[in-house]
Amino acid sequence: MTRLVELEGTGPCKLDTSDIDDEKGDVAVCRCGLSESFPFCDGSHRRTDGESDDETYVYEEGRREVLERVVTSDELDEE
Ligand code: FES
Repeated sequence: MTRLVELEGTGPCKLDTSDIDDEKGDVAVCRCGLSESFPFCDGSHRRTDGESDDETYVYEEGRREVLERVVTSDELDEE
């Protein structure tokens, strides 16, 4: 599976000791792209349960949609 996500960061996030979870004693970095507190995991990855390996998904307004096709600007110019 793949997932389209929108990220606004333009540089690295430097982690330090204040990022360590007091209860768990670790730092969890989001790899799914859905966290509201990106780059840290907030549990939003649970929404990806059931994704199929051969689909691409978009998550918007609490819903999961299967992406049918990506149209590039070059393709739009050809139409
Ligand atoms: S891995 Fe993305 S929210 Fe947990």
